[in-house]
Amino acid sequence: MTAEQAAGQQSMAAMAGKLAGRHIVIGVTGSIAAYKAVDIVSRLKKCGADVHVILTREAAEFVTPLTFREISGQPVAMDMWAPVQEFHVEHIALAKLADLVLVAPATANILAKAANGIADDMLSTTLLATKAPVWFAPAMNTNMYEHAATQHNMEILRTRGSHIIEPAAGHLACATSGKGRLPEPAVLVEAVVQAMTAGQPLKGRKVLVTAGGTIEPIDPVRFIGNHATGRMGYAVAAEAAARGAEVVLVSGPAELPAPAGVRVVRIQTAREMHEAVLREYADTDLVVKSAAVADYRPVHVAAQKIKKSEDGLTLHLTRNPDILYELGKKKTHQVLVGFAAETQDVESYARAKLAKKNLDFIVANDVSQADAGFGTETNRVTICGADGSVERYPLMSKRELAGIILDHAQQCLPGMSAK
Ligand code: CTP
Repeated sequence: MTAEQAAGQQSMAAMAGKLAGRHIVIGVTGSIAAYKAVDIVSRLKKCGADVHVILTREAAEFVTPLTFREISGQPVAMDMWAPVQEFHVEHIALAKLADLVLVAPATANILAKAANGIADDMLSTTLLATKAPVWFAPAMNTNMYEHAATQHNMEILRTRGSHIIEPAAGHLACATSGKGRLPEPAVLVEAVVQAMTAGQPLKGRKVLVTAGGTIEPIDPVRFIGNHATGRMGYAVAAEAAARGAEVVLVSGPAELPAPAGVRVVRIQTAREMHEAVLREYADTDLVVKSAAVADYRPVHVAAQKIKKSEDGLTLHLTRNPDILYELGKKKTHQVLVGFAAETQDVESYARAKLAKKNLDFIVANDVSQADAGFGTETNRVTICGADGSVERYPLMSKRELAGIILDHAQQCLPGMSAK
């Protein structure tokens, strides 16, 4: 074993399991370096990743689909129109599943297609349909690599946010020497592992977020509700997922798309939220309770639509469970973050809730302001900590605020400091 191989084996051991739960789609195109993609897939599997391979027809001339199927342990996607036998999903399923799409080796042809939005086979369609980061590892003859068209295409892809891995220089299969070699699989995989695990301070933690308002039915067509839209909670869920957490989002009715990588549990009433939250609570590390829960519900829900009469209508309401209060009482190791939507005496009401509900901190906002609170893209809050701290923040986007809330929460989690 050479010193280089030994070093490679050591770093593989250090990377084992680091990509557990991550989905990587590898696009292999028709370059002689396609054989190296077998090693890349094998290494990514050893890091714990779930790896799916998409082969172009040309790539399949170099390495058979069977090889990739055996190494990846997954069916290999090749032809969009082939009769579906093993691959029981629509052709953009891999685009949705991917946490990262790596095209290695990437020919001049796939770079040109991706730069121009051409979608005429499984791989190019996936590249157009995915929202995941896309990496290209070009491998080709030096003249093709240096051609103005290829350089221009790579520039377009970079501008759109794709990552281009510099090819190595050296002896090429076309008996010339120069830039255009696919980097060694060990180097490529290490770069992938680093990128996918950097900035993931919540990896291994379970975060439970509640969002939106609950609705309490009066009869089959009417309900009691509130103005919450779920924006704040969805932003926290998205940010927690981006920081590597396992995220469960218990959401009242909301017209927002589910954030990537988040398990959404949809509920309608406070009692349903109560049940869903308690089901997830025991092994949760952090709860961010941004939902606006209805404190009361009608005692009786009419089975049929209530018809109007000449008289007024009195609704008898009864208390809903205070979910956060109950979580505070049952708290073992969980960090609890509450919200306080107030219209007056914001800080003093918030402090009272912080103490009563046994929270680590509370995010208080004055919902009577037009640019902060329900339905806005922005918020202006004060964060009051159980340690007596008070921090007032200026107006900012809800996604930015989500980051600040999670920075605070990370300081409260055992064994962590803010990122
Ligand atoms: N909350 C909850 N269950 C309830 C009511 C509130 O879990 N039945 C949570 C909210 O998600 C929020 C915090 O408690 O994180 C404070 O909610 P808020 O509506 O501001 O306060 P309440 O405790 O309901 O008190 P009040 O309505 O009297 O202001």
